[in-house]
Amino acid sequence: LPVRKIVIAGNWKMYKTQAETQEFLRGFLPHLEETPQGREVILCPPFTDLSVLSKTLHGSLIQLGAQNIHWEEYGAYTGEISGPMLTESGVRFVIVGHSERRQYFGETDATVNLRLRTAQRFGLTPILCVGETKQQRDAGETESLISLQLDKGLLDIDQSNLVIAYEPIWAIGTGETCEAVEANRIIGLIRSQLSNANVSIQYGGSVKPNNIDEIMAQPEIDGVLVGGASLEAESFARIVNFQ
Ligand code: G3P
Repeated sequence: LPVRKIVIAGNWKMYKTQAETQEFLRGFLPHLEETPQGREVILCPPFTDLSVLSKTLHGSLIQLGAQNIHWEEYGAYTGEISGPMLTESGVRFVIVGHSERRQYFGETDATVNLRLRTAQRFGLTPILCVGETKQQRDAGETESLISLQLDKGLLDIDQSNLVIAYEPIWAIGTGETCEAVEANRIIGLIRSQLSNANVSIQYGGSVKPNNIDEIMAQPEIDGVLVGGASLEAESFARIVNFQ
């Protein structure tokens, strides 16, 4: 029987200084005492917060994730970060292909694939993000678009070391969540396109304390990738400790 891990990740995007990170941890860490066993809890902060977090989180049940990785080991790539730099900072996971990277920073399925390969080469677990725009959804292109993102993104990728996040772009930061049943359906389709039945697949897009239970009650959904609600200790704690 396939055993899929519950994976709950906070994507802080470009929020929180080191001082704000320490403040967050003061409020958040005590809640982890109530967290049920076996849940993978990941924080993906800006790079400048990694050292503070890796010191504070050492020995706790939280894992560290990054928001990007370059495909070369080192080189003249201004503004980028490499696998060895991340692993040395205590990072275990890395978000790849987030829609904001695709939209604002020229990320393509080809560069997503390169970054995924490199993440795995350095022993990191990539979290591959896929999802459609409102326009693509209205045009009935959701399934074909996601299928293409998976085809190209996962070329020669080891599916035994992978998390996928389904993030419909129209639900990100809008407060407009995808219906849990619909997210469940799309995630089922994503799973049917994978060769490994054990890949954990998350939902992301306006996940909040008031919808986490319904989302996690869906049989295909193995976790969540949380933006806004992961910035506040109380609300992220409520999400991590869902019933
Ligand atoms: O990566 C998580 C994200 O894009 C969702 O953001 O603020 O809608 O939870 P938010």
